[in-house]
Amino acid sequence: MQLYIDTANLQEIQEASRWGVISGVTTNPSLLAAEGMSMSDAVDEISRLVPGPMSVEVVSTDAGEMVQEAHELAQLADNVVVKVPVTADGLQAVSRLSADGVDCNVTLVFSVAQSLLAARAGAAYVSPFVGRLDDIGSDGIEVVRKSAEVFAYYDLQTEIIAASIRHPQHVLQAASAGADIATVPYAVLKKMLHHPLTDTGLQRFLDDWQQMQDESS
Ligand code: G3P
Repeated sequence: MQLYIDTANLQEIQEASRWGVISGVTTNPSLLAAEGMSMSDAVDEISRLVPGPMSVEVVSTDAGEMVQEAHELAQLADNVVVKVPVTADGLQAVSRLSADGVDCNVTLVFSVAQSLLAARAGAAYVSPFVGRLDDIGSDGIEVVRKSAEVFAYYDLQTEIIAASIRHPQHVLQAASAGADIATVPYAVLKKMLHHPLTDTGLQRFLDDWQQMQDESS
């Protein structure tokens, strides 16, 4: 399973990409608004930091306007993937865009039925929102697992991005459930890295080594 970072914060993207573990970036209008960044600035800045796929979302709701907006976004950089919500207009836009060769990431997916519709419309990626389902007492990982089963059974090429990730267990559960990608907030990436036994273990190694140096000098 690949890891993307789910943020529009350039410092977070830069720091995580230095670790060498990030294959792509996902944004949404809320994340861009939090950084006060336009779509075009985001594409420009993020593509300097991460060469992999970068999802940027349309804000139109009409199919024709989504298609036009998506083409404008796709022209900003080769690695742009256009995020489109799973609405009737969104599916219509995705089917036209996929025929035009524009990769789409169908977003705001909360059910296997929506995943299947997105795949049939020609989405390159589908993004089940794991955390938001868990937030309402549903089981977000089950949507990932069952979508992966359906896609495998029918040999659908759409890749599953587990989104709305809240904690490291979500990442591991998404991997076990067959997600192709988990898009992870920076705070969760840091939690995946840190372990108190690593910190105390490293300190012990360094202290023991220093003690030997002190005794032999
Ligand atoms: O970008 C889509 C998704 O990852 C949003 O997550 O935390 O707003 O539910 P969240």
